[in-house]
Amino acid sequence: MQKLTVNGIQMAFERWGTAGVGRAPIVLLHGFPLSHVLWRVMMAEMGELDVITPDLRGCGESAVVDGAYSIADMADDVIALLDALMIEKAIIVGHSMGGYVALAIARKYKERIAGLGLVSTQALADTPERKAARYATVDQVAVQGSVLLANSMAPNLSADPQQGTVLWEMILRQPAAGLMGALAAMAERPAATDLLPNFKFPVAIVHGLADALIPVERSREMKALIPQAVLTELADVGHCPMLEAPVETANALKGALL
Ligand code: MLT
Repeated sequence: MQKLTVNGIQMAFERWGTAGVGRAPIVLLHGFPLSHVLWRVMMAEMGELDVITPDLRGCGESAVVDGAYSIADMADDVIALLDALMIEKAIIVGHSMGGYVALAIARKYKERIAGLGLVSTQALADTPERKAARYATVDQVAVQGSVLLANSMAPNLSADPQQGTVLWEMILRQPAAGLMGALAAMAERPAATDLLPNFKFPVAIVHGLADALIPVERSREMKALIPQAVLTELADVGHCPMLEAPVETANALKGALL
């Protein structure tokens, strides 16, 4: 695991493959409440491609940041990491919350994007009810810590019961303050639907048909607004296609984005 101080915080990331192989480096952004570890199984399918898997702020081994921050701040972190690595353009792939970050990058830094992958995510903002539920969870995590989310979310993140323990352990390792920061950041994110018709880069959308957290309709709606997007729907796959169907997920991303 490498660490660099970028945008005022220490960011941890793994870099795989060989720099300079493929069209542009590929950045894989994990969802909530997870870390870069989420992508490790799928890396076997990426060969020698130059792939970077960061931990978003407050997650995994990256710094926990005091005070409120936004999904746009997370996007700034990722771009600052690319700057530090002297990468002009990258293929940005985001899973769920990582997809919200990828869309925030598309809003502010579209010139840095060589391709966009949206995995198990959505362009909609939170409804008022969802927002209120997020803040209620912030209060609960403040008291009970990350075990609360490990217990409540791990069983819903994958349609494959065998992944439950892996996900439970990944969530348990997350710093509680980072979980609280990410929940608030997700609650306050704007919708990104206005951006979609203007995307000029290749777009891959991947969604499991058994996703218990974000329904496949959200991806179909995004596809309808992005003419060049390639949507791959995976049968019997839940919210974590990179764990549940790593070969199909990697092929869908590579096929549309390389
Ligand atoms: C995620 O998997 O990143 C989150 O569940 C997304 C969300 O809560 O909106």
